Amino acid sequence: MNIEPAERLKNVETYYFSKKLEEIRSLRAQGHAIINLGIGNPDMATHKDAIKSLNQSTGEAQSHYYQPYKGTQLLRGALSAWYQRIYKVHLDAENEVLPLAGSKEGIMLTTLAFVNPGDTVLVPNPGYPAYAATARLLGAKIQYYSLKPDGDWLPDFFELEELAKQGAKLIWVNYPHMPTGAKANTALFRKLIDFGQRHGILIAHDNPYSLILNEERLSILSIEGSKNTSLELNSLSKSHSMQGFRVGMVAGHQQLVKHLLKVKSNYDSGMYLPIQKAAATALSLDEHWYNSTNAVYHKRRNVVFKALDLLNCSYSENTSGMFVWAKIPQSFSDGYAFADHLLYDLGLFVAPGGIFGSNGNQYVRFSLCAHNNEFEIMLNRIKNRQKIAI
Ligand SMILES: Cc1ncc(COP(=O)(O)O)c(C=O)c1O
Repeated sequence: MNIEPAERLKNVETYYFSKKLEEIRSLRAQGHAIINLGIGNPDMATHKDAIKSLNQSTGEAQSHYYQPYKGTQLLRGALSAWYQRIYKVHLDAENEVLPLAGSKEGIMLTTLAFVNPGDTVLVPNPGYPAYAATARLLGAKIQYYSLKPDGDWLPDFFELEELAKQGAKLIWVNYPHMPTGAKANTALFRKLIDFGQRHGILIAHDNPYSLILNEERLSILSIEGSKNTSLELNSLSKSHSMQGFRVGMVAGHQQLVKHLLKVKSNYDSGMYLPIQKAAATALSLDEHWYNSTNAVYHKRRNVVFKALDLLNCSYSENTSGMFVWAKIPQSFSDGYAFADHLLYDLGLFVAPGGIFGSNGNQYVRFSLCAHNNEFEIMLNRIKNRQKIAI
């Protein structure tokens, strides 16, 4: 083979989970009963009304047509109404909201639209790996900022001010935070907006977890003056168990959103109409949907807490999102070693915290996305120290 990939591919690794899940599949194929608590892949079914919209629309004439680059009025209107209802934020459905194929697409589009090669992007450590990987692919420099347990996993503004002095174009923030579950708060968002305004740094807030195990739903766009200096990504993946549909959004000042649309219109040609209709239906679901899914996540989290007590791990109960972030026992060198012990001795796959950055090295992340009975099986295996031979 004499075809070389582009130089930029040398800057990134294949995503950890795409390799590790292959290993899990292969272990399962060999008959090992692995419980997968590695990823945030919601298992509860998408609401039946959303599926009904999808099915109805699929059968209709012209559903297969190309759709507007900026999404249908129906979906933009539904996203705008959802923001008003959930976050008390007004978004002009014409210009201030753009449907996307998930929040992950928004990370790429935001970086493409605002970051030149050589520019610096501020990225949380620990944090969602796509922020840094995308910046690397596009030739940007990465400057990690530290999130630490003694700072409640919130940014240290002294550090941010120092980093800003060296110049930065964009900062990624994500509260409720993945992987730690740290919650958003208004004071934090105010400080971030002030920071962005003073330094001319775009605040990109990634907000896919605010409807999971979270009482205070916050959007950074609820802060006065935020639209001029920030963009918010959101998603139906976690909030509506629609991750495979690939529906998310970006919102902010129309001038900022327009730049993302310019990029998107050059490589994409609109979202399948039945998916847009299903998403609009899902967005109109009332509180019963959120209450019922959260009740299940809540029960599962309690089982994980019990399991962690038995494993001598420590954790905070005051977190949001669909993960439990746990400090490993001192007898293990790091989260990779502990995750290997859980996988190879107990048949339990969890994510080592180090994949989210060096500040996660002494942690593991348990997902709340698996069938209820798998959580009980996990607890019993741990209680009985039941080895599953691999
Ligand atoms: C912090 C964070 N942002 C974005 C995403 C991507 O979500 P989506 O399915 O909307 O692309 C994830 C998914 O796991 C995530 O954890």
